[in-house]
Amino acid sequence: MGQALPKPALRPYLPADTAVLAEIFVAAIEQLTGDDYSEAQQQAWASAVDDEDKFGARLAGQLTLIATQQNAPVGFASLKGADHIDLLYVHPGAVGQGVAKLLIDALEKLAGARGAIKLTVDVSDNAAEFFAKRGYVATQRNTVTLNGEWLANTTMQKTLAAGAAPGASS
Ligand SMILES: CC(C)(COP(=O)(O)OP(=O)(O)OC[C@H]1O[C@@H](n2cnc3c(N)ncnc32)[C@H](O)[C@@H]1OP(=O)(O)O)[C@@H](O)C(=O)NCCC(=O)NCCS
Repeated sequence: MGQALPKPALRPYLPADTAVLAEIFVAAIEQLTGDDYSEAQQQAWASAVDDEDKFGARLAGQLTLIATQQNAPVGFASLKGADHIDLLYVHPGAVGQGVAKLLIDALEKLAGARGAIKLTVDVSDNAAEFFAKRGYVATQRNTVTLNGEWLANTTMQKTLAAGAAPGASS
């Protein structure tokens, strides 16, 4: 559907990106998760960026990568520590073009460089198939409370390829 946009590029997060990433976060939740979450759950989830300073601190405290098309951010993902993917959001206008794949491929390489032998991620129901396609396996079902709403997600795990982690034996 729609015309193909130019191939996305990656760059590191800068504090000045916070507002546009908050917009992508809210748009992705509102427009891409409605099959799996109620409107009240979506609102509670999206409220995580109401405090922009707190959101900026979260992005800055992790290894956050931004995917751009024609220099404009269209998606972002973050690695917390060496081995946990915290955030992955793609603007609804840019989905289905490999943006998330580009971001996660890069984070997997960076996790390997940080010595990780496996990666975990708490995956929303709408994104489970994306991660399953990339070799992530469900290990645990969770329920979390956000702003008084209960939301379900699944912890998924992927063992990184041998050689990705220097000195790793499995
Ligand atoms: C999930 C999400 C990040 C995918 O972004 P995307 O850029 O469209 O994904 P890609 O284009 O890189 O997709 C890569 C592959 O996954 C598949 N895929 C992507 N989203 C999918 C979905 N929701 N359901 C099934 N398959 C999906 C694609 O078809 C593609 O498959 P292929 O490699 O066989 O062609 C995006 O839909 C999103 O931001 N969702 C809302 C926020 C969210 O839930 N984030 C995850 C929090 S854990």
